[in-house]
Amino acid sequence: MGQVLSVSQLEKSYEVRKTPFSVKKILIRAVDKVSFNLEKGRTLGIVGESGSGKSTLARCLLLLERPDDGTVRFDRYDLTAMSEKELRDIRKEMQIIFQDPYSSLNPRKRIFDTIAEPILFHGIASRDEVKQKVLDVFQTVGLDEDFVKKYPHEMSGGQRQRVAIGRALATNPTLLVADEPVSSLDVSIQAQIVNLFMDIRERSEISMIFISHDLNIVRFISDEIMVMYRGRIVEKGTKNDVFSMPLHPYTRMLIAASQGTFQTVKDENGAFVDQGCNYYPRCEKRERECARRVPELVGTEDHTIACFMEQE
Ligand SMILES: Nc1ncnc2c1ncn2[C@@H]1O[C@H](COP(=O)(O)OP(=O)(O)OP(=O)(O)O)[C@@H](O)[C@H]1O
Ligand SMILES: [Mg+2]
Repeated sequence: MGQVLSVSQLEKSYEVRKTPFSVKKILIRAVDKVSFNLEKGRTLGIVGESGSGKSTLARCLLLLERPDDGTVRFDRYDLTAMSEKELRDIRKEMQIIFQDPYSSLNPRKRIFDTIAEPILFHGIASRDEVKQKVLDVFQTVGLDEDFVKKYPHEMSGGQRQRVAIGRALATNPTLLVADEPVSSLDVSIQAQIVNLFMDIRERSEISMIFISHDLNIVRFISDEIMVMYRGRIVEKGTKNDVFSMPLHPYTRMLIAASQGTFQTVKDENGAFVDQGCNYYPRCEKRERECARRVPELVGTEDHTIACFMEQE
């Protein structure tokens, strides 16, 4: 199987004020030397607490935001070396779905036009064929044909998310990035939308990145799991390996918290550490070594971790 995505040493930092009134600025390494591959037809789940850099990574992968350093190879293209114009031509191959379908849909556009727009823009169907194509998309995402004339505010959250998914799928993308696509929905609706993602996976050769802070959802949908903490990958592997044999203390804590057997320890040290492992301030297994050097990701193809304490 070919590689759809190959990411190497990706970096993105932001300079922010320490507090709203301070002059002093600090550098937040939102994505810090992230490298990974995604094979065709596979789904990679990305987990991590709020602020771990999941959304920043998603934006950088699709070049919606320019990374500071590193490369993103998509199919046979080096996205990081491409101009905005060149990127525009291959955007139809890589689509993103955001958490809040309400803000990602144009409130003044009927659903028909919302889905027809990318189809026409990318020349996927002519004006004569577009109606049928939109109806095909409706069918794929389980929307009734009656919705064509509606506006986003006339629909429920779940229905709106179906529209957002339909709009993303309308161009038959090779890669779909879903950033917390069910977090804003009621629990009962979440299951329906997760099932829709499962259907899409099964019916097409699409490769997916599914971002969520909810481990139970990521576990359900992914082939591989990547755990992020403060911009860095701390553990990565097949779903089975990561969930049945979590190695990094942070992953273990997240899994315990998702099973309700452990309360998440709040991160009291607000600043990013200057050197060493980012998880050091919270880690129960920490040794002095951990504060001195950044642990590299090591292990096998199926399972890697960045932790001195759990490596052989
Ligand atoms: N445009 C920006 N300007 C300044 N700081 C930013 C910007 N975008 C993100 N950050 C910071 O980068 C870090 C990572 O943020 P990001 O939104 O990528 O995390 P996340 O894992 O998606 O979190 P969440 O689960 O809350 O969505 C955070 O500290 C955030 O405050
Ligand atoms: Mg986010």
